[in-house]
Amino acid sequence: MTVVLDSPHAAGAAFDTLATHYDDLFTFTIIGRAQREIVWNRAASTFLPGDHVLEINCGTGEDAIFLAQRGIRITACDASEQMVRHARARHQLEVPHSPISFQVLPTERIHELPEQHFDGVLSNFSGLNCVEDLHGVSRDLARIVRPGAKLLLCLSTRFCLWEALHYTLKGNFRKAIRRWGGKSLASFERHPFFVYYPTLASLRKSFSPEFRLRSITGIGITTPPSYLEGWISEHTRLLAAMKKVDKLLCDLPFFRSIGDHVLLSMERV
Ligand SMILES: C[S@@+](CC[C@H](N)C(=O)[O-])C[C@H]1O[C@@H](n2cnc3c(N)ncnc32)[C@H](O)[C@@H]1O
Repeated sequence: MTVVLDSPHAAGAAFDTLATHYDDLFTFTIIGRAQREIVWNRAASTFLPGDHVLEINCGTGEDAIFLAQRGIRITACDASEQMVRHARARHQLEVPHSPISFQVLPTERIHELPEQHFDGVLSNFSGLNCVEDLHGVSRDLARIVRPGAKLLLCLSTRFCLWEALHYTLKGNFRKAIRRWGGKSLASFERHPFFVYYPTLASLRKSFSPEFRLRSITGIGITTPPSYLEGWISEHTRLLAAMKKVDKLLCDLPFFRSIGDHVLLSMERV
C-alpha cells in the first residue's frame, strides 16, 4: 500500500509506532504533567458537567478520562488505530463506567461524524500541527457544534525559545530552526509525516469567521520541552520555579508565543 506523505494516514501510521510508549515518553513525565496541568485548568473552567465534548487527536485518552471523571460526555477521535486501542484499554481499566466513545477517525474526516451539536471541542498537544488545511477543520467543526460552543486548541508554536537555544548549543542548527519555515518533515520508526507550524495570526484567520478567538495562553515558556525530561528530573526545584514563572508570563503578548505550545480558547460565533 502506498501512503501519501501528506495524507492523515501518514501521521496516524507514524503514531501507531509510538502508541505503546507514548504515555511513558510524554503523558506520565514531569514535563508532560506540568504542560498538561495548564490545559486541564483551562478545560475545567471551559467544559461543564453534562456537556458533550468532541476531542480530536485524542491519543491514549488522558484528557478524555480527565473530562469524563468531571461528568462530561466525550466523543474522542484519532487517526492512529494503535493510539485508540490504548485509549480504549485505559478506559476499560481506569473509568469503565464513564461515557467515552473512542473512534479511529482522522480530523480531516471529522465531517463523517453523525450530525450532532457538541458543546465544545478539545485538541491537545499538537495533533492539529499534523493537519494542513485548518480552515477546512474550522468549517467542519462549525457544522457540528452548537452556537456558543467552546474550542480549546493546543498546538506547537512556530518559534520555541527553548528549542532554538538547546539545539543551537548542541550545534544542530537544522533542528534549532526546524519550526521556522512553517512545515517540517518528522519521522517515527521510519514513518515520515509532515508537521505544520502555523503562526498565531494564521490560526486566528483559519478559524474565522466561524470561531472567535477569546484567549491565548503560552505553555512551556521557561519550562523546557519534553525531550529535556532527563535533565529537569534532576532539577525538580528549578522546574517548580519555572512553573511559577510560566504562570506569570503565560498570558503576556510575546511571551505567550515563544513557548513549546500555545493554548487557544475560541467560541463558535
Ligand atoms: C502528540 S499526540 C497528542 C495526543 C493527545 N491529544 C495528548 O494530549 O496526549 C498527537 C496525536 O495526534 C494524532 N494525529 C496526528 N495527525 C492526526 C490527524 N490528521 N487526525 C487525527 N489525529 C491525528 C496522533 O495519532 C496522536 O495521537
